[in-house]
Amino acid sequence: MTIRYDGRVAIVTGAGQGLGRSHAIELAKRGAKVVVNDLGGAKDGTGASSEAALAVVAEIEAAGGEAMANGANVANYAEVEAMVAAAMEKWGRVDILVNNAGILRDKSFIKGSMEDFQLVLNVHLMGSVYCTRACWEIMKEQEYGRIVVTTSSSGLYGNFGQTNYGSAKMGVIGMMNTLVQEGAKYNIRMNALAPTAGTRMTEGLMPEKVFELLTPETVTPAVLYLVSEDSPNRTILCAGAGSYAVAKIVETDGCWLTPEEQTPEGIAAHWDAITDPEGERALQAGFEQTGKMLTKAAAGLGISLD
Ligand code: NAI
Repeated sequence: MTIRYDGRVAIVTGAGQGLGRSHAIELAKRGAKVVVNDLGGAKDGTGASSEAALAVVAEIEAAGGEAMANGANVANYAEVEAMVAAAMEKWGRVDILVNNAGILRDKSFIKGSMEDFQLVLNVHLMGSVYCTRACWEIMKEQEYGRIVVTTSSSGLYGNFGQTNYGSAKMGVIGMMNTLVQEGAKYNIRMNALAPTAGTRMTEGLMPEKVFELLTPETVTPAVLYLVSEDSPNRTILCAGAGSYAVAKIVETDGCWLTPEEQTPEGIAAHWDAITDPEGERALQAGFEQTGKMLTKAAAGLGISLD
């Protein structure tokens, strides 16, 4: 069955080019009305222009779709609120939010300025917070919402020179993990995309041949699935060059140590058991960890917690 978005309104941030542009075009092709948001600045976040967003809207309209351009800076809450209000005024609902806008200020940790660090957090993390917050009540009332945050292998696994970016990209995962719990009873689902694509952001970092394989169009199907009606929830979907995979944060089963062993030396002595991957699991909420530890402690001490 073809997955479509007829009657749905989508906001895609940073949709003037690269991945966001591809997401917006494909959503519109499949029936969604799309807010094409883009500040239109340079890769490092400086400057602004409405040109790129307007060009994407023209492209969507030429193909028979519906779209509106928006120049809000996602790091500015008032501008984000005005963007969502404009979408509501024109189309009366917001069903899909793809938090995609992003910038880079790469430098090794000690060489980068704290201003750059803050700016990168503001755009990626606070930008996702602002856009999600501005749509949240609307989605709650509709009892329908599909939200994607864009993370990165730099956040999940680290990348030299990207402390600011990696911190922000892991921050959005923390936001998702909690919001899936708060949104569950309103049919608001939230997922994360970890893309790898040849765009302005990655230009010059890889050979031309590789760049050509990593098209945004190979990533976009992942986003479209994550914002579909039958989407998964709380998934980190990795996509690039036609490969798709899921990233998970797992915790080892671990082991309980006797009170005498609860010392740094005891931990060193049991390191193999503590880190043993056998039985490791992706926990679904913070309290599951506490529950697991209390169960082990009760068993170890031979007591009941009832
Ligand atoms: P891009 O540089 O081609 O596009 C990003 C867009 O966001 C630009 O059009 C820019 O004008 C817009 N933007 C930047 N700051 C904004 C702001 N404050 N408000 C509104 N719009 C703003 O980059 P690309 O590669 O398409 O990246 C899209 C997302 O994917 C970003 O969040 C990026 O961090 C993430 N990502 C990309 C990867 C890649 O391999 N290209 C890898 C991992 C994550």
